[in-house]
Amino acid sequence: MNSDNTSDIIATGTSAFAQTYAQLPIVIASGAGCTVTDTDGKTYLDFVAGIAVNALGYGDTDLAKALHAVIDAGITHCSNLYWNTPAVTAAASLVRLSGLKKVFFCNSGAEANEAALKLARKYGHLHKGPNANMVISMQNSFHGRTYGAVTATGQQKYHKGFAPMMPDIAYAQFNDLESVKQLVSERTCAILVEPIQGEGGIIPAERAFLEGLRALCDEQDILLIFDEVQCGMGRLGMPFAFQQFDVTPDAVSLAKGLGAGVPVGALVIGEQAADTFVPGDHASTFGGNFLAGAAAACMTEKLSDPQFLSHITGVSAYLAEQLTGLQKQFPDQITQVRGMGLMMGLAMKEPVRPLIAACLERRLLLVGAGTHVVRFVPPLTVTKADIDQAMGILTEVLISQS
Ligand SMILES: Cc1ncc(COP(=O)(O)O)c(C=O)c1O
Repeated sequence: MNSDNTSDIIATGTSAFAQTYAQLPIVIASGAGCTVTDTDGKTYLDFVAGIAVNALGYGDTDLAKALHAVIDAGITHCSNLYWNTPAVTAAASLVRLSGLKKVFFCNSGAEANEAALKLARKYGHLHKGPNANMVISMQNSFHGRTYGAVTATGQQKYHKGFAPMMPDIAYAQFNDLESVKQLVSERTCAILVEPIQGEGGIIPAERAFLEGLRALCDEQDILLIFDEVQCGMGRLGMPFAFQQFDVTPDAVSLAKGLGAGVPVGALVIGEQAADTFVPGDHASTFGGNFLAGAAAACMTEKLSDPQFLSHITGVSAYLAEQLTGLQKQFPDQITQVRGMGLMMGLAMKEPVRPLIAACLERRLLLVGAGTHVVRFVPPLTVTKADIDQAMGILTEVLISQS
């Protein structure tokens, strides 16, 4: 294909891509700040950020410098047979920022959760015996599309057509400690939970629920694993989401914002399970290569900057205020404002697809979280002026649909 023509690109993509996505009819060509521009030259304000990935927005000069440095050194990959400085730097930062002990690098959120599931079972085998392989995850959760991760995902719609799923995963009710307790037995090796359910509709965990899980896991020698793939890496105004809840897990899975646009995943492991994996237990060819390491080292350096974090806290409060105002203005359309930090949702009475399409037409990118929730996960560098512009467009659209 040698045409820049938008409709040709879409036609070729439609013919060549496996049909796993229902792409919107625009072709993104470049980005700057909180905006992206398509091949027709139209610029969009982006409150999707690659689905909570592009944490530094577009064109961040520090990220560009970090990536150029490895490219200019002639090396983006060299295998985990050897050490590389960018990945070591990133791992040391994740350990320092989390207070946990060890980092395993991979390439995506699903892979980080696969590592978590393997860690959980190995831990169970070592501590309680070979039958201690039961993982409890939550209904309405989302953990990714690989077999283990999609099995841990407590939503039937993601399992349909793919049976049999991985054995020995049980689903408790999110934010209902009793329902977790009912599932716990001597066979339980881990509890896996998102501090904020993302794909499930932007539903924060109650702090008491996470505290209860922590106490339960301590009593029963069970690993508590947080999936912070979407809500971690600064999105809630702290480097890790668990720091907002003041509940420390035994392991935390990361991806999305960790590489700020470069595919990087990680499982960060605490003291209790730090020695569970031994050489040969787990691996990833690309995991933590030079390019990935450089991106993660850059992102974790940003997360070490109190000014960066206080910017996030400031704009988060502003976004929450604006969304609450919007709900007051449109009570017949908006049923709830929920979320934390820069991970917010508007729960709507009607399905959100038409609203998202109308916003796209007015050059605002938004994405749903489930059928009835509009999600707001802009770059962490978003400004109040960007938020004002987004609210202006949304207001127009809500008026037009009322
Ligand atoms: C909480 C959570 N976990 C895991 C994943 C899967 O991540 P990936 O698509 O990088 O495999 C996602 C993706 O949306 C997610 O939101």
